[in-house]
Amino acid sequence: MCGIVGFTGKSNAAPFLLDGLSRLEYRGYDSAGIALLNNGEIKTEKTVGRIKSLIDKTENGKTVDGFLGIGHTRWATHGAPSVENAHPHTSTNGKFAVVHNGIIENYLSIKEKLKSEGVIFSSQTDTEVIPHLLNKYYDGDLALTVKKVIDLLEGSFALGIICSDYPDTLVAAKKFSPLIVGISKECNIIASDVTAIASTTKDIIYLEDGEFAILTPNSADFFGNDGKKIDKEISKITWDVSASEKGGFDHFMMKEIFEQPNAVKQTLSGRIKSGEVVFEGFNLTAEKVKNIKRIVIIACGSAYHAGIVGKYVIEDMTRIPCEVDLASEFRYRNPIIDENTLTIVISQSGETADTLAALNEAKRLGSHTVSIVNVVGSSIAKASDDVIYTLAGPEIAVATTKGYSTQIAVMYLFSAWLSKKLGSLSDEEIAAFLENVKALPQKIEETLKQNEFLSEIAKNQINTNSLFFIGRNIDYAVSLEASLKLKEISYIHSEAYSAGELKHGTISLIEEGKTVIALACFERLSDKLLSNIKEVKARGAYVITCTTNGNDTFNQESNEMIYVPDVDRRLIASVEVIPFQIYSYYVSLHKGCDIDKPRNLAKSVTVE
Ligand code: F6R
Repeated sequence: MCGIVGFTGKSNAAPFLLDGLSRLEYRGYDSAGIALLNNGEIKTEKTVGRIKSLIDKTENGKTVDGFLGIGHTRWATHGAPSVENAHPHTSTNGKFAVVHNGIIENYLSIKEKLKSEGVIFSSQTDTEVIPHLLNKYYDGDLALTVKKVIDLLEGSFALGIICSDYPDTLVAAKKFSPLIVGISKECNIIASDVTAIASTTKDIIYLEDGEFAILTPNSADFFGNDGKKIDKEISKITWDVSASEKGGFDHFMMKEIFEQPNAVKQTLSGRIKSGEVVFEGFNLTAEKVKNIKRIVIIACGSAYHAGIVGKYVIEDMTRIPCEVDLASEFRYRNPIIDENTLTIVISQSGETADTLAALNEAKRLGSHTVSIVNVVGSSIAKASDDVIYTLAGPEIAVATTKGYSTQIAVMYLFSAWLSKKLGSLSDEEIAAFLENVKALPQKIEETLKQNEFLSEIAKNQINTNSLFFIGRNIDYAVSLEASLKLKEISYIHSEAYSAGELKHGTISLIEEGKTVIALACFERLSDKLLSNIKEVKARGAYVITCTTNGNDTFNQESNEMIYVPDVDRRLIASVEVIPFQIYSYYVSLHKGCDIDKPRNLAKSVTVE
């Protein structure tokens, strides 16, 4: 949630700040602002709405001069989206300006104290206490003051700070919220996400929790938790900037849908060797695997849906009981976890607050933790005992597509890896399964060819206000994801139901013209699903059925048919989800919704 940037250099800061904020806008987009220091004075500009209004207001940065600046794009948590609540926030005398990602949990008590000392607040945010605290404790030494203030803050923060007494100094501080420093000859910069940095420099430094940095155009000094100077290692951004641009597509979501064959290929690449799966540097030893009695998968949203696919595949291949839990429920439930439980957490961003907290809780209870994460160096990746990166590249559209597809690809690899270690399947069975996994990028490519047909049938849904997805087994797991995709970007209410469960109450909602989308690729359950389709059809439903090429079981009972390639049924989610990503995209497009930035959402949910 929210995005922050900062710049200190030998040229105007505004171009970097505005470009960086545009690249970070997917993280939060209800208001934005920048603050620049010029001639000893900090000037702020803020607007409600998208970065575009800030760009317009500042005439593309021309009205704000200065070689030092910070910027923020906001996803409101404390206080409504408004100019007053937009960052940067400043101290009353204008000496300090601050941008903040995260939540200051003890802000109310600090605010009350500051108010009793006469400080007047101009926003409802938690963040505003920070510039006032900086001003209160400032004794002429910026580094010491920052240290004193961050020690008073509870909760999570990534901070960018400037002070009018220091005309070229940018301060960055981090605790439980991502923050990256970019180093170059022309400037030193900060951002909450590498996408804002990659077009300026490939040399980056990840700040760790409790650390802060003092940057000038010619120097970068880093300080540890104890306030002492530390050395930091420079890492390289490995992907190209074009990976975070639209590349000829109208929307990031469609670009990312079409990137899926390659993203899955990358994720598999180098991990299947001589008919088995290899995870380099894994700490989960064969001996530990033998002691696993139970697997718990924890995640949120689409990552949780990827976990449900994983449960079906893991249980089928390993016969180890596997549960899938919502991170936000798990962490507050007094969960039953011990050293014989393997915990798998799934997160595209690697920064989802609930997932991170659940991971830490599982670790505390003695479980070995494996994370499946896309963003290298993210908090979840760092906190887990083992990490398997999904290698999807940057995902910008708020609605995940390639993130989900690569997560389920890792689930297949992990299931095969576990099966081998446990001996639950023969080497031949594992090798045959992996051959099918290797064929998935090609199968996904074939599925993408239905683009135009899906656009046509999506037109019928633009006036629908509610519909159902039904399925059984992995078809049901995919229904959950298909339904979420549709509702989050088209704002059509949609529910995914296990097909056999509908008649236990919800079927009362089926009436003439109600759309029911049946996912029916599991031919072992075809008869059962056909009966469920007949039940809704008899009550007037408009039925769209998705099944595998060549299966004509459902034609008679369906108003529309969608076909996907015939693959090993354990892998069906990889092809079956594709038409529904595209379908959701087109429903949203035909309705005129904001596809890449749906209302009320943000890409990375770093608050509870
Ligand atoms: C939906 C979507 C969200 C995320 C969820 C978890 O399209 O993207 O439901 O899947 O917020 O995010 P990560 O995977 O970053 O932990």
